[in-house]
Amino acid sequence: MKKIVILFSGQGSNLLNLIDQLHLKHCKVAAAITNRPDAPGIKKARQRGIHVNILDHTRFTSREEFDRELVREIAAYGADLVVMAGFMRILTPIFTQSVKAINLHPSLLPLFKGAKAIERSHASDEAYGGVSVHWVSQELDGGAVIDQRSFKKSADETLESFTVKIRKIEHTLLPETIIALLSSDK
Ligand code: GAR
Repeated sequence: MKKIVILFSGQGSNLLNLIDQLHLKHCKVAAAITNRPDAPGIKKARQRGIHVNILDHTRFTSREEFDRELVREIAAYGADLVVMAGFMRILTPIFTQSVKAINLHPSLLPLFKGAKAIERSHASDEAYGGVSVHWVSQELDGGAVIDQRSFKKSADETLESFTVKIRKIEHTLLPETIIALLSSDK
């Protein structure tokens, strides 16, 4: 069975969804790694029997030093694919040149790269919102898009209703993309 490692920073709704939908059914979630010791997702993932490693980025003196340790940990798990699901870190070439990774982003890339993508996408004049899964490259949110799904904004769309739609798409698009990638061996 193929192995994935999941990186996350916060609530971990995507992390938990991936564990529930994929673990030991489609692949093994070898571990989850977070850069935030207070990430709410940690406890819930551990309750599901998943190893969670905490790599507190504030303990490192540079991005490169953090990335070196992250790459070392990922290699120790022998992951076939690394999945960034709400991992809020800018990565250096130390990571991007040695790890095969995909990233989930809550917009229709190339629109709204970077932070606060949901808020900016909701506030914009664009008629559609959406979600992208793309290869991680040196350019922030700039790697090749693997798959995207969109929805039309409703006339009375609030940030809350918009966010619910994004989450719902994320929770189907990301596991489907992982299954497709692992079975096609890309
Ligand atoms: C998700 O919406 C994900 O697309 C986004 O963070 C959220 C994490 O939610 N990622 C980015 O914005 C990356 N630039 P979660 O912790 O509940 O899975």
